[in-house]
Amino acid sequence: MPSVSLARGQYELVAEAVEAQILPSAEYAATRSFGFNGGLPGPEIRVPQGQQLDVLLRNQLNEGTAVHWHGIRLQNAMDGVPILTQEIVDPQSTHAYQFTPPDAGTFWYHSHYMSHEQVARGLMGPLIVEETNPPDVDHDITAVLADWRLDETGQTTDDFATMHDVAHAGRMGNFARAFLPDVSLRKGQRIRLRMINAATDRIFPLTLTGLKGKVVALDGMPLSSPREFEAIDLAPAQRADVIADVEDTPEIAMATREGSYLLGQIAIEGDVEPRASAIQMLPPNDIPHPRNVTQDLILTMQGGAMGGRHGGDNIWAFNDLSDLQLVPFARFERGETARIRLVNATSFPHGIHLHGHHFFEAHDDGSLGDLRDTTLVQAGETKDIVCVFDNPGKWMLHCHMLSHQAGGMKTWVEVL
Ligand code: C2O
Ligand code: CU
Repeated sequence: MPSVSLARGQYELVAEAVEAQILPSAEYAATRSFGFNGGLPGPEIRVPQGQQLDVLLRNQLNEGTAVHWHGIRLQNAMDGVPILTQEIVDPQSTHAYQFTPPDAGTFWYHSHYMSHEQVARGLMGPLIVEETNPPDVDHDITAVLADWRLDETGQTTDDFATMHDVAHAGRMGNFARAFLPDVSLRKGQRIRLRMINAATDRIFPLTLTGLKGKVVALDGMPLSSPREFEAIDLAPAQRADVIADVEDTPEIAMATREGSYLLGQIAIEGDVEPRASAIQMLPPNDIPHPRNVTQDLILTMQGGAMGGRHGGDNIWAFNDLSDLQLVPFARFERGETARIRLVNATSFPHGIHLHGHHFFEAHDDGSLGDLRDTTLVQAGETKDIVCVFDNPGKWMLHCHMLSHQAGGMKTWVEVL
């Protein structure tokens, strides 16, 4: 991941065709794909919490694009969604993004134009907002998880948004990996590991070995108490931060029917005396707390293979409507608290993402659980989310299985 920092808080992102070594170089040639600044994933953008970030996007592709800053509670005009919040950035043109991230944590950026194809090709990268007082660790490591559908020469197959993939679980790769920085650790060191699921459609059932620690944040939002890392299902676009002590070669793997599939590992060399101190929690972000619920809404996911009939005119629908309509799913007065019941009436899981806000996942008894920007709703499951809609503008609400989004599972809300 090349670094392109011009000055603190200033970046240039060049969207362009790249050749990247996705498969092991001993056996395979580089893959011709898309990326930013000559590589994929794009460069890690880092900015201190509360400091302004300026990114100039230069489009050197032969097609349009736009960049969305996933999970950042920013002003609507900077959200990067063609038609809804900005024009498509044409080939050979530029677009300036400028915003001040209010929350510290692990975020990411990705194309929001033809995203099921452009993200699959590599138009994505990490966006890290640093705490004023970062936790005490020896290394802060970002792992970008992605999967690829490659032919026998290591080239991306062009079968995006096929009817079959869109109507089922999405476009699954035949190869998956974690993109990790080139670091070497010592046994006994403490690390922060930020895992970002940048795959278009794959849920990663993750396991970690060689590390002893806790999950400290999900989707960029600190947990109020540290949680054991058992297997975590990371849906597309979700993030998990772990702080852990190195006990052996750290390995990130996913569970598959054929057994454990290694996504990446970090080399260790030598050892140090481990810390005696407990794992430090991260300071909370200042997210508005829900008061009385003034709107109770239901969003029913419909369609897909084995999904039965629905009124929408694409493969997937929300409440009998497919694709972005002229009228939003809901309108909120600024600061209103709403509860949205997410009903998955389909035969597949969906990862539902709301732009411009974080929401609470509600437990069955109504109490509030984790803060998230993307929530996984299993086939047949119903899950309530509670959100204070305090950020004015037009915000997308969609499935982050990007093939499902392409197949119509998207809508928007408006905060007045
Ligand atoms: Cu991560 Cu609508 O996007
Ligand atoms: Cu979906």
